[in-house]
Amino acid sequence: MMKRTLMILVSVLALQAQAQETHDWENPAVLGINKLPYHATLQLPSKEKECKEIVSLDGEWQFRWSRNPEERIVDFYREDYDVSQWGKITVPGNWQTQGYGTPIYININYPFVKDRPRVTTEPPKDWTAYENRNPVGQYVTFVDVTKEMLSKNLILHFGGVHSAMYVWVNGQKVGYSQNSMSPAEFDVTKFMRAGKNKLAVEVYRWSDGSYLEDQDYWRLSGIFRSVQLWVRPLVHIADYQVTAVPNADYSKFTVNAKIAVCNTGKKAAKNLLVQLQMASPELYGVNVNPNHRNVTNHHIPKLPAGDTITVELAYHYDTPPRLWTAEKPWLYPFTLQLLGMKDSKNDEAFNYHFGVKKVEIVGEVFKINGKNVKLRGVNRHDHHPKTGRYVDDATYEDDIRLMKQANINFLRTSHYPDREYLYELCDRWGIYVMDEANHETHGYGYANKVMGEDLTFQKAHVDRAESLVKRDFNHPSIILWSLGNEGGVGPNIEAMYNKVRELDSTRPPFYDSDRRYSAIWDDSYLYPEDLRREAQKVSDKPFMMREYAHAMGNSCGNLKEYWDVIYADSSIVGAAIWDWVDQGLKLSPDGAEFKYGGDFGDKPNDGPFCINGLIAPDRKPHPHYYEVQYVYQPLQFERKDDGTIRIINRDHFTDPSEYEMSYDTLRYDGEVLLNVAARLKEDKPWAKKGFVVAREQFVLTPYVFPVKQGDGSFVTSVSDVTKEPSPCYTIDGNKLTSWIVDGKEMLQAPLEPYFWKPENDNQNAAGFARRVATWKEIKDVKVTYTVINDRSIRVDMDYQPTANDRPVMPKFGMRMRLPKEFTQIKYYGRGPWENYPDRKGSAFLGIYEMPLSEYETEYIHPQDNGNRCDIRWFEISSEKSENSEYSDYVLRIEGCDPLCIRAWDYGEEDLEGVRHPNDINRGRFVNLNIDLNIHGVGGADTWGKRTLPQYTIDGNQPHHYSFMMTFLPLRM
Ligand code: GAL
Ligand code: MG
Repeated sequence: MMKRTLMILVSVLALQAQAQETHDWENPAVLGINKLPYHATLQLPSKEKECKEIVSLDGEWQFRWSRNPEERIVDFYREDYDVSQWGKITVPGNWQTQGYGTPIYININYPFVKDRPRVTTEPPKDWTAYENRNPVGQYVTFVDVTKEMLSKNLILHFGGVHSAMYVWVNGQKVGYSQNSMSPAEFDVTKFMRAGKNKLAVEVYRWSDGSYLEDQDYWRLSGIFRSVQLWVRPLVHIADYQVTAVPNADYSKFTVNAKIAVCNTGKKAAKNLLVQLQMASPELYGVNVNPNHRNVTNHHIPKLPAGDTITVELAYHYDTPPRLWTAEKPWLYPFTLQLLGMKDSKNDEAFNYHFGVKKVEIVGEVFKINGKNVKLRGVNRHDHHPKTGRYVDDATYEDDIRLMKQANINFLRTSHYPDREYLYELCDRWGIYVMDEANHETHGYGYANKVMGEDLTFQKAHVDRAESLVKRDFNHPSIILWSLGNEGGVGPNIEAMYNKVRELDSTRPPFYDSDRRYSAIWDDSYLYPEDLRREAQKVSDKPFMMREYAHAMGNSCGNLKEYWDVIYADSSIVGAAIWDWVDQGLKLSPDGAEFKYGGDFGDKPNDGPFCINGLIAPDRKPHPHYYEVQYVYQPLQFERKDDGTIRIINRDHFTDPSEYEMSYDTLRYDGEVLLNVAARLKEDKPWAKKGFVVAREQFVLTPYVFPVKQGDGSFVTSVSDVTKEPSPCYTIDGNKLTSWIVDGKEMLQAPLEPYFWKPENDNQNAAGFARRVATWKEIKDVKVTYTVINDRSIRVDMDYQPTANDRPVMPKFGMRMRLPKEFTQIKYYGRGPWENYPDRKGSAFLGIYEMPLSEYETEYIHPQDNGNRCDIRWFEISSEKSENSEYSDYVLRIEGCDPLCIRAWDYGEEDLEGVRHPNDINRGRFVNLNIDLNIHGVGGADTWGKRTLPQYTIDGNQPHHYSFMMTFLPLRM
């Protein structure tokens, strides 16, 4: 008896083990079940509404979430299973952004235990994945189908589902899919019936596909892109690829279209016409000869049931093309039709466009349309603070508009294909695109052999390359296909590479981790000097930095240094900043501030490492956005000795005369400045006429700083100096501890030498605090106070090092605290936005006025901020108020050298170690740092690289500065 039970037990266990092994979602051999082949986007996304074949299924669906597969309802898809009591969810959308489960932000490691192909191996108890081993989202919606629709071919289209899903219609299993960032399609004709149909989808948070989706991003799940039902003629266009290329000397061009037509009906189809028609070609400057046909077609006499035929249509134009470039994104719209010659029941038409261009690599030079174009790039994650991985059209437009306005001409869709509309915008508005496959295996190490060589995952790798190229083939904006990011090395990569080349010979493959399979040599996050050197070493391929200038927090120093190197070497293709938008999440109901890794209790997490954008999650530009705009500008200006201005054109297809050139002469306090600008002569989709595309500032007559005495200190009119010591001031050694004006104490904390500044993210990673901690203590400094009168005092600070082994100084200067009423700032210096010694090119000299709240920069991860450089004078005043004794005063600060000044409504200690802006203890006083110089923000990476030496302060050299402070009633 005992034995028998044991035997049964053993076989049950064996069965269970077997059942576990055969989960499709833990089996890399199963990438899909009943999935239709990938194909090109058939209708331009902006014209989807005009396409009669598309029925949108987006909206509120019934939803049920379980922590793990065991707790899901196994038969929810059955027709008699009632889901009316379930919760609701918006499709498209992630479930974690709608209150189900936990968003996890993690960079390199997997959020589950690495045990491929399994994703449910027991993790440490404190991991999110311990309790929520593999959450499952069950979705139900009902689809109305008419009799007429039933006579057609019905295709269910999912734009993107993370990470794996099963689909049922009316209780019957339709199929399965993974590869989350590409569309999945199923033929559901035979499952549908007239009336109401139950569509059930079961989504798994993790699958074996997740091993290829280890991107540095929020790990979010669900049906996050649109779901559509395509009601297609039984005979229809299954796919098409249009290639438009100029001949060798650009005097002619060819348009070639390959069109696949399939017959899903039960009878052979006869006499079909595939027709490609260019829209009003005269408009586009080609074929003004009215006798030339702009319609071409192909007759299909017979297409047997179940067959697919591929026909080719070609145009040869004997006129030069209008080329497509990011500068001038010339598009030729066309209509592709399938027509029945006897009847119209299978007629269909799609609208799309092509652009004529040539991408080539000649030796070590990368060329677009024959020119050594430079890619002024940025990386972008598909991110929205409220909807996560679903980004709506309006936000796409904001992004591409802001990119164009920042003179960015290159976008890498890191690290997967985005929604189709983004590519259409790039086609239309002009951005070169590196389209990237949904492939990263960083958790196994950068350039790992594990995933590169594991042949059980080869099909999955290739699937991701194929889905990428097939969907996006027809976008003229795409110039490079990327095989992924931070993945493996070996045959799996080779297979992806071969697939891409087989599918498209006009755009080269790119890959960072296995350089054998890349047309371009990538090395990222180098210092400018290393970029110069490394690029020289590589001689058989062009060179690029697919990622550089890690824009985390207060960052992006020394951008100009990079571009001096890039412009000087024709083998450097360009570089793309990491990255575009801070990936902060602001979810309701407690959407008070942007959250990052760890804020949802997610474990393991990588904290604020997802906050590295040029713009905030709500698309508000950071100060460094403007520096990118300036350094990336297509025209650069140089003033020659004879006063003429030389224009350097960094573009290739636009003449400077196409811009409106303007200049302004500004005179401030004797200084004469010349501001020059190149403006748009006409409206563009991304900016209005008059928008400044490029600008520069020249100093014609320099500012005369107050005269220095022999010892370097400030001279006003010497006769001003009182002979008597003033009772208004209390001086204690190096500190000014009290300053009474009109009987009121103006100092809430002393004016004192202060060399410390809180870190920014770059500095933190580079061990700044540890390296320069010694500067928390003041050494070898002497401050001299010279009282001019009761309202005016001169300050001289002198540093004479008594050692020669000191690290660089965080800053050289002083700080003080004023009453909290001092909230209005006016200054003459660089602005209006925050600038630092290594990031100030875009901040022109001028007189700027703003409230303290705008003088500060609020970073999502609080850190040092708000500096302004080259300040000639600075005034901070209190508002007029009846309730405050500090009403209506102004403190004016004037140096005899340009100053750096930061002003905050909190102290250094309030900023340090704080996770979010709302945690900063604000508003008790105003903290002013008045410096001669400050350490630059740094510009390479956020994992160790330092600020370039020319933007640091030598701690072993003497320093001296002198400034005057004067308190005045504001309105006298
Ligand atoms: C890169 C990686 C990006 C991102 C970045 C750090 O190496 O490709 O995905 O993780 O580092 O923010
Ligand atoms: Mg990574």
